[in-house]
Amino acid sequence: MNTGFFSDGRNWLSTRDQPRPQNIRDIDNRISAAEALRLCRDGISPHWQGDWPGLRQLLRAMDRRMPWRGGDFARWRQHQAWRSAVLGRVLVTLDDRLAPAVREACAQVYGEITGPALVSARELLGVLGAYEWRRQGIFVPGLGARIHPHYGVFPPTRHEYVDLVAEAEPPDGPAFDVGTGTGVLAAVLARRGLRVLATDIDPRAVACARDNMQRLGLGGQVEVTQADLFPAGRADLVVCNPPWLPGRVRGGLDRGVFDPGGRMLSAFLDRLARHLTPGGQGWLVLSDLAETLGLREPGALAAAIEANGLRVLGATSTRPRHPRATRATADPLRAARATEVITLWRLGVR
Ligand SMILES: C[S@@+](CC[C@H](N)C(=O)[O-])C[C@H]1O[C@@H](n2cnc3c(N)ncnc32)[C@H](O)[C@@H]1O
Repeated sequence: MNTGFFSDGRNWLSTRDQPRPQNIRDIDNRISAAEALRLCRDGISPHWQGDWPGLRQLLRAMDRRMPWRGGDFARWRQHQAWRSAVLGRVLVTLDDRLAPAVREACAQVYGEITGPALVSARELLGVLGAYEWRRQGIFVPGLGARIHPHYGVFPPTRHEYVDLVAEAEPPDGPAFDVGTGTGVLAAVLARRGLRVLATDIDPRAVACARDNMQRLGLGGQVEVTQADLFPAGRADLVVCNPPWLPGRVRGGLDRGVFDPGGRMLSAFLDRLARHLTPGGQGWLVLSDLAETLGLREPGALAAAIEANGLRVLGATSTRPRHPRATRATADPLRAARATEVITLWRLGVR
């Protein structure tokens, strides 16, 4: 998280490592979206002094003025990054007039707000949305329970991949869940009686998974630790649902979606055999979106499995049922989702 102080003592807060704005101008409900955009493009950060509905309206109107004009996936990601950078420039002050729920939402992400602080208004709206998700949870049918995602942690809003894991027959012994996120897959396995050691590289995910295990009464069965990929030792089952797309991590939920250079996937396959007991199984959940978008060569996954001394014991596949996959759209990611297939690869050592 990026923090720092302005000369007037206000704190700067950013979970996306956005640099502290240098040039700030107060704005309120009287500003037009076009004028606010002009300020942003000139490197000025508009500082909102109006009301909340007005702020949401302004951000929506600014967004509408930055439409996606088509192109491939790389162009689309550039467009998203640009949109996010421009909209992220609009700032709000957090101070002691905050409503209790907003104060609590901010405390969960930034820590206790002790004095006036400036944040990106768009980031703050994300923090408030995440607060509601964390409070209410998401019902996951494959688990038969609710999972409470924390801010910035990959949420199990897509149920199909959880179903694939819930429907597969696990070995009896202990399991590792590598890249556990909210802990949803660890919880599915624990409910089937397995002891699980879960890891994640992101401390927010570790805290979130621990919270979920406590809520589900699985704290005694699932241990969660921060680690780059595998914990030490071997297990009869190693589950991994890596980010599905090779690509740069820019912030927000990117770490759950993008795997820079495909590093997590290749390191998982490279080291899997060293973490399996004899006869153990590695379960890899992966979608074919990367192939559809031209981000991974067709056949590259099979070649990597083979090259790492592994073999496919079985595979089960499913199609996404979430509405975004079926809605017609010009956005290349959503268009690719229309034909997406998600597979649980069950791997063994050759
Ligand atoms: C697609 S999410 C899956 C989360 C969860 N297992 C699920 O199925 O909902 C991928 C997770 O891998 C984590 N991750 C990324 N790189 C990692 C690494 N090198 N070691 C451990 N975890 C990693 C991310 O923080 C994220 O929580």
